Amino acid sequence: MINATEVVKELQEMRDNGYLSDALLRQAVKRIAASDERFDWVGVYLLNKEGDELWLHNYVGDPTEHAKIAVGQGVCGVAVQEKQNQNVPDVTERENYLACSPHVQSEMVVLIRAGDEIFGQIDLDSEEPAAFTDDDEDALQAVSDKLAEQIAAERR
Ligand code: SME
Repeated sequence: MINATEVVKELQEMRDNGYLSDALLRQAVKRIAASDERFDWVGVYLLNKEGDELWLHNYVGDPTEHAKIAVGQGVCGVAVQEKQNQNVPDVTERENYLACSPHVQSEMVVLIRAGDEIFGQIDLDSEEPAAFTDDDEDALQAVSDKLAEQIAAERR
């Protein structure tokens, strides 16, 4: 289980020391991936300027064919379209699921957002079925919210 309090504190310290969102996004992905064996692939996608595609910023795990995902496509694109986090216990039940690896069984997407404005998302894959819990979502949301603070500050 990820220790969100600790990671959020670390990200805030990075902010205080002048690190930009690029560094924070990489550190968050590394920390999350190392925190739990259930997390087989962890990455951050950012919404492009036009707001119609997600672009892969950084990840831990195997390379993916899906470095760009159109809004509305796959679990990732649906999260943006519906402005809602996704917890998919069985990826085979999602019609437009985009497979990164044949071993993945469940997926969670947590949005990086400031209110209605979506900056991107943290995407997690697991090779276990129904790997993700509400507690995971809460912890990941706390990390996402800290990332969103820095992204918003850089866009001002
Ligand atoms: N499975 C995702 C695509 C991204 S990969 O998991 C890395 C989806 O359906 O949107």
